[in-house]
Amino acid sequence: MRILFYTPPSDTEAWLADLRRALPEADVREWKPGDTAPADFAVVWRPPHEMLAGRSGLRAVFNLGAGVDAILAIEREQPGTLPAGVPLVRLEDTGMAPQMAEYVVHAVLRYLRRFDEYAQLQAEHRWHVLEPHARESFTVGVLGLGVLGAHVAQAVASFGLPVRGYSRSARHIDGIETYAGPAQFDAFLDSVKVLVNLLPHTPDTHDVLNANTFAKLAEGAYLINVARGAHLVERDLLDALKSGRIAAATLDVFREEPMPADHPFWREPRITITPHSSALTLRTESVAQVAQKIVALTRGETISGIVDLARGY
Ligand code: NAP
Ligand code: GLV
Repeated sequence: MRILFYTPPSDTEAWLADLRRALPEADVREWKPGDTAPADFAVVWRPPHEMLAGRSGLRAVFNLGAGVDAILAIEREQPGTLPAGVPLVRLEDTGMAPQMAEYVVHAVLRYLRRFDEYAQLQAEHRWHVLEPHARESFTVGVLGLGVLGAHVAQAVASFGLPVRGYSRSARHIDGIETYAGPAQFDAFLDSVKVLVNLLPHTPDTHDVLNANTFAKLAEGAYLINVARGAHLVERDLLDALKSGRIAAATLDVFREEPMPADHPFWREPRITITPHSSALTLRTESVAQVAQKIVALTRGETISGIVDLARGY
């Protein structure tokens, strides 16, 4: 079995070593320009067009991330990057779900317990007890109830806060009030105090975090975007912060990454910024999942995580 590997320059040697350890019978090689030799599987992150275009014989392409928007954008810009009929498989959890839960729970509790305001009082050397937020109306709405969103929703609900979730198809998750499809979008948003975004970026979800969406939330709501920068209309967030419609935001993802030094978000104290680090791809867990799925495919078994190219996730 021949495995072709590519990620933009990073710890390639460590990935190759782990893949070889996990699949000792496989011939694992790094793709280099000009390599057109046969391969059975490709394991990639943002592959160059020349790597996969025109290849026959591939049985699957494994994307080293949960989101496939980057590889689908390459395909849109350079059609044929993904060989026709070859399944594209994404990472499912591989240690990202607990990371997301930690990140989102931290942000939600920080807003619930008004830690930013206490930090300001401390800076002013002021001893002053703030009125607590009413727990029963501190509703957390999670956009996207997939592998990550469902885990995050349950982690937040474990603190006794009211939690809602929104997905494309109907979902049932214990302890979560669920909404599905555009017809229920406004009802989902109504009075939400903290909006958490864990949708995939697709043509349907592009710009979903916009002024119309913000207008339906509770006054002085909080936004946590951990999905993709292209979900957020940045100007609308700055306006919503100015008007008080949004009280504060925690953002991990941006339209342009790395975010340029002159971006206005850097100068807005009510925006907390992290560098796309809320849930990192963990090598050990990812290699284990990819290897297990390669073995399953070679045995003719079905696997989960195959991307529906028409839906875009
Ligand atoms: P997933 O399992 O595919 O879940 C996606 C969820 O979004 C599903 O519940 C799906 O609905 C819902 N959805 C998709 N399109 C929708 C639409 N048009 N309207 C309503 N709901 C829609 O994905 P995941 O593994 O949870 O990952 C979610 C995203 O997180 C990734 O795509 C990626 O962009 C982002 N991410 C970010 C980081 C980071 O470090 N910041 C790390 C990992 C992932 P159904 O349940 O009906 O299918
Ligand atoms: C990271 O953003 C991922 O999609 O895995």
